[in-house]
Amino acid sequence: MSDAFVARSLDEIRFWSRIMKEHSLFLKLGFRCEDTQLINEANHFYSLFESIEHRANAFTVGTDPNVIRRFNEEVHTAVSYIWVFKRKVLGLILRCQLPGANNFPLLVDHVSREANYFRNRLTELNLGRLEPLPDAIIDENVFFLRIMADHAKFISHLLDPSERKLVEQANNFSQEFDQLLFQAKDLESMRPQSQTAPLLDQFLDQNRVSVKSLRDFKRTARELIEACRIKSIIHPLLADHVFREAEHFLFIIDMFENSLTGKPVQAINQFG
Ligand SMILES: [Fe+2]
Ligand SMILES: [Fe+2]
Repeated sequence: MSDAFVARSLDEIRFWSRIMKEHSLFLKLGFRCEDTQLINEANHFYSLFESIEHRANAFTVGTDPNVIRRFNEEVHTAVSYIWVFKRKVLGLILRCQLPGANNFPLLVDHVSREANYFRNRLTELNLGRLEPLPDAIIDENVFFLRIMADHAKFISHLLDPSERKLVEQANNFSQEFDQLLFQAKDLESMRPQSQTAPLLDQFLDQNRVSVKSLRDFKRTARELIEACRIKSIIHPLLADHVFREAEHFLFIIDMFENSLTGKPVQAINQFG
């Protein structure tokens, strides 16, 4: 059990600390050159999460769980600080105090939601209190479907408007994921009655199909951007970043699917 705790903690921290590090870079690139204080803060968070990432990579599954517990707490504090920073930036943008800066409000809100998600994961890990499977399936999908819908919107808005075909494809994904998100919300409001194994299984299957096709679209976009074959203001690292988040969501969907259909899991027994 301790080994599982250490492995899960390290997986989460390795994935999300790199994401937090990259958010710091993206925010920095969107500030105006005179916003030196904000740029310095972003640089500080970049180094902070880079060092957390290195430390997480140096630990192994054999590391003492107590060391990992303290590490989780430390990372939790760092994530709380970057969340505050992101919300402060959002406030400045929405009060029109950064005219001409290039971070969309929705993007800043989005990266703060990801920080909040990471922080909650760390809390859950340290408390050893996981949500029952049927609740986790709905909540995680509601969270990630919105993240995916946002990504499609960012891609559409950061592509050059002359890339008409790609903009149209990105807009179609945006609509598709908005719809999936509403479906997930409907399932959410119908719970607990909606939490039957067949409905949850179908929900996962349907989401997987769309996430796979969005993931493939992001992979293509990443390749085209890296090869400088399309016109956009998308940083190649941002293209890779949103691709990795789609892969992460697919991994979570598969994990849920295995728990639902594989060997009976304690939490789902009552729904089976
Ligand atoms: Fe992100
Ligand atoms: Fe994201």
